[in-house]
Amino acid sequence: MPLKLAVLISGGGSTMINLQRNIQAGSLDASIPLVVASRPCTGVEKAESAGLTAVTLSPKSFASTDEYSQKLFSAVRDVEADLVILAGFLSKIIIPEDFANRVMNIHPSLLPAFCGKGMYGHRVHEAVITRGCKISGCTVHFCDNEYDHGPIILQQTVRVDATDNADSLAERVQSAECEAYPKAIQLYAENRLLVKEGRVHIVNES
Ligand code: GAR
Repeated sequence: MPLKLAVLISGGGSTMINLQRNIQAGSLDASIPLVVASRPCTGVEKAESAGLTAVTLSPKSFASTDEYSQKLFSAVRDVEADLVILAGFLSKIIIPEDFANRVMNIHPSLLPAFCGKGMYGHRVHEAVITRGCKISGCTVHFCDNEYDHGPIILQQTVRVDATDNADSLAERVQSAECEAYPKAIQLYAENRLLVKEGRVHIVNES
């Protein structure tokens, strides 16, 4: 059975569309029975155009992060999703015990650098350039209840050129993201990710 993904978005939806393309191309053995947006965004329109079911659940409609998370994970359980995929999702959630090591995120830097609350999208690339880094990249990781934290699954590096601005670096990192995220999810689908003492071991890595 293909792995069932619940994809959580807050913005443009390019990460979600890339996963859907990989599914259609046969390189990712999964399906996306549910997309949840934390606010009205273009990602919702893209999901619907791609034939995906999308709902908008805003944290503003709930009294607390706890209540919001409960509602969100109950929607995820309703579609019997195996794995929750954060795809540019910007709202805080509390991961329930039955979803420990079943929520993945992609971050556009080499963690643990350039992360945390408010550090997303272009802000990350601007900070990398300002710091004069010579490499950057992306990180796919399992989530715990801290921002951009939890066992690291895959990292992919890209070069930072002296002439780069946030846009050109974002483009290079996004191409790396398009490879790394489906690859990490496929490893999960093949049951090849073993989490031990906070570290991810890839089983049968060649
Ligand atoms: C992606 O680049 C992803 O790495 C980043 O948001 C973008 C989502 O784009 N995520 C974070 O910064 C998480 N801390 P999208 O909304 O078009 O998919």
